[in-house]
Amino acid sequence: MNTKIWDVRSYIDDITTFPEIDDIKQIYHQGGLIALPTETVYGLGANALDDNAVKKIYQAKGRPSDNPLIVHIHSLEQLTDFTTGITDEVYLLMKHFWPGPISFILPLKSGYLCSKVSGGLNSIAVRMPSHRIGRQILQLVDLPIAAPSANLSGKPSPTQFDHVYQDLNGRIDGIINGDQSEEGLESTVLDCTSFPFKIARPGSITQKMIEAVIPNSIAATTNFDSERPIAPGMKYKHYAPQTPIYLLRNFRHQPNYDKLWERKAFIVPATLKSYVPSNAQYIELCDDEQDIKTANHRLYEILHLIDRRDDIDEAYLYAFEDKDDTAAIMNRMLKATNQLWIDGDTL
Ligand code: TXA
Ligand code: MG
Repeated sequence: MNTKIWDVRSYIDDITTFPEIDDIKQIYHQGGLIALPTETVYGLGANALDDNAVKKIYQAKGRPSDNPLIVHIHSLEQLTDFTTGITDEVYLLMKHFWPGPISFILPLKSGYLCSKVSGGLNSIAVRMPSHRIGRQILQLVDLPIAAPSANLSGKPSPTQFDHVYQDLNGRIDGIINGDQSEEGLESTVLDCTSFPFKIARPGSITQKMIEAVIPNSIAATTNFDSERPIAPGMKYKHYAPQTPIYLLRNFRHQPNYDKLWERKAFIVPATLKSYVPSNAQYIELCDDEQDIKTANHRLYEILHLIDRRDDIDEAYLYAFEDKDDTAAIMNRMLKATNQLWIDGDTL
């Protein structure tokens, strides 16, 4: 399949002036697959009303069919077609955080969306992205768009056009190049089918941020890695680079210089650079141990990068302390490393 590339970066103010905008609209309406930028990661979009289009998403990604998709919308009015259960609390959170990096799982009203979107569940995840290009595309196409992250299943999510191209060129109808995703981690997924709500996948909208809007609205314990996770997607191996990678804790002195560090990469905050052996590869994760925003933004780019670089055989990834705002990145890092730890004190 020939994958079309549309570079719309200089049409960000008004996407309707992009010469090939009608092609994009038409392909979505005819059941094609087009990757589009969002503020979290790129999504692989298809018409959520069209079973055949949604089937192609699973095929292109190699995704297990029991893993449901998030439906992307541009206006709250679209929700009445396919969801129920928008309580005052849910509405308040939507008003507060949308458009933005949070998805809400709601009871599904059957008969409107095609059945494959929800993977056989009676609930549906929805999100209204804030990305200026992604949002305009959704407005213009004016369909509910099912969109998982635009990567091959099991690979790190794409935060740049190049990442999408690498995984999906030749497998989908087109890719909209809309620059680098600002957030860099997938949206928070909040299960609102019962109260208190449950965080099914942590993201940059944190528990504290949600509870600042509605106190005590999040169920106390959430186990993202249990056998029966709320989000089916959380049970699959995910986000993993090909290069062996370990989570690095207790990195507080220079390792032993007798070892061969040449083909090893240390992915750490700049404040810890002085501990990195001079013959090792240093990759800057963020400014300091508090700079979670930059680490979120860069993580997937770095995971892609270490696979592309042929001077790295093994990587050590700095582990953050457990806090409200590190829940998302630690969740992804644990998956990327398959929970393999290495202790800085023993290096
Ligand atoms: O930021 C994002 O959410 C990106 C962009 C493109 O919007 N999308 C994304 O989609 O990350 P995906 O398909 O890679 O991840 C969706 C997650 C999966 O873990 C899935 O199992 C879960 O949401 N999910 C979707 N619908 C669900 C439902 N009805 N109940 C429970 N979990 C659900
Ligand atoms: Mg994904």
